This record gives sequence, C-alpha cells and structure tokens, in this order.
Amino acid sequence: MDSGSLQPFAVLLPKGKPEETAIKLAKQFYSQRGISNPLPKVEKREFVENSQRFNPENGALLTEPVPFNLMFKTYVGPTATEADVAYLRPETAQAIFAQFKNVHETSRQKVPFGVAQMGKAFRNEVTPRNYTFRSREFEQMELEFFIKPDEAVEAVTGAVATPASKGHPGEPQPNWGWQLWHQYWVEERIKFYEGIGLPRTTLEEYWQKPEELAHYARACVDILFKFPFGTQELEGIAARSDFDLSQHERCSGKAMGVFDEELRTAFGKLPPEKQTELKDRYYAARLKYLTKMGVPLDKAGAEAQEDADGLAKGQYIPHVIEPSAGVDRLILALLANAYSETTKTDDKGKSETLYVMKFHPRVAPIKVAVLPLLKNKPELAAKARAIFESLRGHMMAFHDEAGSIGKRYARQDEAGTPFCVTVDFETFEGIKDGPQAGVKDTVTIRHRDDGKQERIAASELLPWLLARVK
Ligand code: GLY
Repeated sequence: MDSGSLQPFAVLLPKGKPEETAIKLAKQFYSQRGISNPLPKVEKREFVENSQRFNPENGALLTEPVPFNLMFKTYVGPTATEADVAYLRPETAQAIFAQFKNVHETSRQKVPFGVAQMGKAFRNEVTPRNYTFRSREFEQMELEFFIKPDEAVEAVTGAVATPASKGHPGEPQPNWGWQLWHQYWVEERIKFYEGIGLPRTTLEEYWQKPEELAHYARACVDILFKFPFGTQELEGIAARSDFDLSQHERCSGKAMGVFDEELRTAFGKLPPEKQTELKDRYYAARLKYLTKMGVPLDKAGAEAQEDADGLAKGQYIPHVIEPSAGVDRLILALLANAYSETTKTDDKGKSETLYVMKFHPRVAPIKVAVLPLLKNKPELAAKARAIFESLRGHMMAFHDEAGSIGKRYARQDEAGTPFCVTVDFETFEGIKDGPQAGVKDTVTIRHRDDGKQERIAASELLPWLLARVK
C-alpha cells in the first residue's frame, strides 16, 4: 500500500497465477477494512518454499490442510472396528431413489409421480448456529418428483412447452419438460409457505447461478425467509436431471429405468429424421453423464447408444425435480413470524406487555381452547367439558377452567391458540338481545389476533373449526 501506515498484506500465489490476482485480493482485503480505493503496489515477488501460509482472502494464517468431511461418521455395533464404520445419511433423498423401482412397481404409478419423505439427516456442519437454524442433527422433508426426459415428452406430444411467463404455470400438462415442472414446484412450494402463514413479503426467491449449482443440478431455486438474524434459506428446489437414478443404476448394477408404452407407440410413428434427432439428443445427454462419471469413452459411447436405442423402445431413466426443505428452520421461521408483543399503558401509567404468537390456525400447536366462563357453575363447567371432549378427537384442543377468563385468554394468546370457545350463561338461558334473541345452546368464539367475538350454535362448532384448521 502506498500509505505505508497500514498493515502489510502478503498474498501467496500459486505458480502461474498473474500478479493481478494478488492486487485484486489486496484491494478486497483493504476495502473490507473501510479503505476505499486502495492502491496496492507490489513490493516483493520471489519464490518461497516452506513459508508460512496466509489466507489470501483476509491475510490470516492458514493451518496445514486437514481432511474435511461433512458426512457424519459412526460405528454400528459394539466392537467399533473399521469394518463397522457407517455414515449417517446427510439427506433423506437417497432412500427414495434406492426404493424407486419398488415404489413404481407396487404403487401402480406412472411417470410423472412423486415420492415424499420426512426424517432425520445429519451433517458435520462447520458452523452450527442461530438456534435451530443450522444444527448437525436436523429434520428434512424432501420430495422426489419423477418426470419424463424432454426427449420422451417431445416424442409423445410433438413439442416441449416453454415457460410463457414467470409465476405459477397452472395445471400440469403432458407437454411439460423439466423447466416447467421446476417452475411449477417453485410456485407450489411458495403457495405452501403462504398457506401456513408466511406472507409472500417475508419470502425471497434466489435462482442459483450456474457456478453455484451442485454437481447434479441443472437449475436450483432457493426459497429464503427473512429471519431476524438475516435472510436465509428454507428450501432448495433443484432440477436434478436423471443423475441420481443413473448413479444408483451404475453403482448397483440394477436397472432403474421405466418402460412407457405410450412413448414406444408414439416413437414408432415419428418421421425417421425426428427419431434420429431425438435419439441423438438423448445419446449426447447420456454420454455427457457417463463420461463425467469417468466411464471410458468407448464404453460410455456403447452404453449411451444402448440408452438411445432404449428410448425408441419406450425406455428411459426418469428425471427428477426435488423440493428439499429443512423442517427445523421452517418451525423457526413460523415462530419468528408469529411472535408479537404489544405494550399497553393504562390511565395510571402502569405498563403491561402482551405477547401473542400469531400462528396460522393450520400450524398452531393448539387449535382451540374450551373455557367455561365461570368454574363454579356446574352446568357451565359440564357443558364446556362435553364440548372439549367432542372436539379433541378431531384436533388439538385444550380445556382450562381455572382463573379469570381474561387470564385464560392471555395464556392461550401466548401459546398461539387461534380460537377460544366460551360457554356462558346465554348458552343455557338463550341469547339476550338482537335478531337471535332467545336462541339457546350457542357458544362464543374469541379470535386471538383482534379479540373479536362471535356467537355460533354449539352444533356448528366442529365444522366451523375444521374449515379453518385444515
Ligand atoms: N437433497 C438435497 C439436500 O439435502 O440438500
């Protein structure tokens, strides 16, 4: 640096890298420290051996390289020898791929169809943090949605539809290729989040750049949530091509393809030049996969040719669109989104803070609380208990008769219960005023978020609640 007063910055360059790389890194280093327009000058250029190593990003010393594995290694069985080594699964996806043929054959499904799974996964995360946002043991929910390769779609329908615009593409169509299926799942997943109470304004979509994509992905969209600690990923929706099933087939030696009669018939009716074009495209895609996996060129060529000939006979390895979501971080997002606190000050200047968890009724842990207005009135208490018993087989219900009704409401607000049902004197004596005066056997429903109350017939309560919590 020209100023001379600043920290010196050493950059170790691998052999063959130009000096500009070092200058760029030095500029970054200083600008990250608040120095705008730094003018680094190269002071020294020499070959060094056995030097101390620096991280060129920040000037920090680097340690010796150590083996690094995100997979969770353990031993199965009590002897813990090297023969007992096992790795806990880092994603739920692979069991679905391994079981694909079983599911396809026994469930009588035709492609396109999906298999979803939810369960534990484990990763040796470098930086677990932010409550349950990133932890080494976590819960995933993944859907592997199997689709035809585009060449098969084109053979059957004449042309693969191209996305007309952004947003939801509507009801699935037979001429959808992977791009439209991918767009469909991105939009369906956003709809899911909105449907459980995360407004669109709290979500962001991030389309990964080509250089950010995992080795198996053709495209990937992350759905992010604006957490209090920053905007972070909830879910990734990846178009994984036929990579996974191809890998299982290649490494297990067990066929993972499907036979599609409709494709076989359609292919046979195509003009020869169209048949050749589709086979060539399929061949090129299969060859690219096989050679990328290190299969020698002549062997890969023969296998890709077999695959292309198979396509003409109605056989293919399904492609996949994979929505993959973290459950723990979703719960954290729901908690963060629901939390609200309001401080009220009364006439005497006394302040009280009220806490309300504004969960959508679909995800609220308790859906309804049934409360007699007064505990010491046997008919109110008995009726409230009877209503509670009639609801609890259908949804998570709570019964509470102790304390003032105001305190009981506040307790439910803190738990995020969207509806409180109260049995009061009008339940027995009939509604006092208004157009329904005299009508008996009604209850009040109190809404958590605005405290408003409405009165409905006790017999209507269950369908009223089910319509809102399902
Ligand atoms: N199956 C994708 C993932 O676990 O990230």
